[in-house]
Parts: sequence; structure tokens; C-alpha cells
Amino acid sequence: MSEESKVGHSYLARTPQEQQAAYDDWAATYERDLCAMGYRIPAMAAAVFTRHVAPDAAPILDAGCGGGIQAEPLVAMGYGPFTGIDLSEGMLAIARAKGIYAELRQMALGGRLDFPDHAFAAVLSCGTITPGHAPPESFDDLIRVTRPGGRLIFSLRDDAAQDPAYPAALERLTQAGAWRPVFATEPLQSMPYGEPEVFHRIHVYERAG
Ligand SMILES: C[S@@+](CC[C@H](N)C(=O)[O-])C[C@H]1O[C@@H](n2cnc3c(N)ncnc32)[C@H](O)[C@@H]1O
Repeated sequence: MSEESKVGHSYLARTPQEQQAAYDDWAATYERDLCAMGYRIPAMAAAVFTRHVAPDAAPILDAGCGGGIQAEPLVAMGYGPFTGIDLSEGMLAIARAKGIYAELRQMALGGRLDFPDHAFAAVLSCGTITPGHAPPESFDDLIRVTRPGGRLIFSLRDDAAQDPAYPAALERLTQAGAWRPVFATEPLQSMPYGEPEVFHRIHVYERAG
């Protein structure tokens, strides 16, 4: 299967089990495939993270960490320790082999996470809270596990094919006073050589204090 069709396969998963199987199957070549498509989110999100999260913020949750490509530049910048969670054991195994996470656990976004309230000083989630992957309700429990005043940094699709339930969740939680928007990039082509029609923004929100 080509790298483009593996991306498509992951979007088409109808259940968490299908999603997990799609990523387990893809894990060994995922990073090589995405880099060949010009995957821009890790560099952009790392730039945004370093501007908006204090160097001593710890611990940090990487929600939907995959093989760890998003945490890598931040660990190199001295951030951490990182806890990573992901649905796919195959992806977690790739992350584990890098030795950059203090803890890696299989966990599904969208329901209640197995962490206490306010467990993390900052939360990162890239490429994961998106149609066919983690649902818009994921934000609710990510806010619960973030410390008051802590930052949540995440990518969100921003193009005509985005499911309006995702931006609606941002607005719902802002109206409810659960967090406040701090910053968002301009829309950027996230994989220009693979999916030129797909754009994302990197968002920064601050959990209510
Ligand atoms: C496009 S990858 C992004 C991985 C990594 N953050 C990156 O930027 O490369 C999406 C990841 O989300 C995971 N995933 C999909 N649905 C999920 C869910 N409901 N809960 C947790 N992880 C999920 C997949 O297993 C996969 O590793």
C-alpha cells in the first residue's frame, strides 16, 4: 500500500479497533512515509510550544503521541519528562524504542483518561484530534488533566473538509470558561507533497485557573 493510501486507510477507520489496527499495521514505516510527504506539524508545533510553554513546565502529556516524532524536538530542547498515550501499541513500541518518554501507555482519547485531575503542566496533541481519529470530546478530559493555568498545544484541521464539530468544541469550552484561546498560527499545509489540500493550525489554549 502506498503512503498516501495508508493515510487514507487511517481516516476511514470506523471504530477505535479499526483505527488501532490501521496504525499497528503502519507503525514501522509511518514516520518515513509522513516525512516523505513533507509532514510540517512537528516543526511548527515545536516552535509554538517553545514560545508558549515555560522551559520548566513538567510533566508534559503527549496525547496521541504515535511514534514520538512530536516530542523529539522538544526533548532535544530540554523539555520533559513526557508521558505519551496512544491507541496503537505498534506506534507506542516505536516511541518506546526512542527512549525519550518517562512513561508510555495505551489509552483512548474521547473518554475519561486514567490520570488524576491537574496531572500535567502542559498538554500536547498533534495530528490526532481529527476526523476518523480522536473525537472532539477529547478536549474535555485533556482540560481536566491539565493544571490550572497550564497550556494545551494542539493541531486542528482548518480546511473545507474539516468536521465542524471540532471547531464547535473549541468554542463550547471557551464559552463554558474551561479555557481561553491564547494563540493560533495561520493555516499551514501540513503535508504538501502528500495531501496538498489539507491545512492545519496550531492552537494554544490556557486552562482556566
Ligand atoms: C497522525 S498520527 C499522529 C501521531 C503523532 N502525534 C505525530 O504527530 O506523528 C495519529 C495518532 O493518533 C492515534 N489515535 C487515533 N485515535 C486515537 C484515540 N482515540 N486515542 C488515542 N490515540 C488515537 C493513532 O494511533 C496515531 O498514532
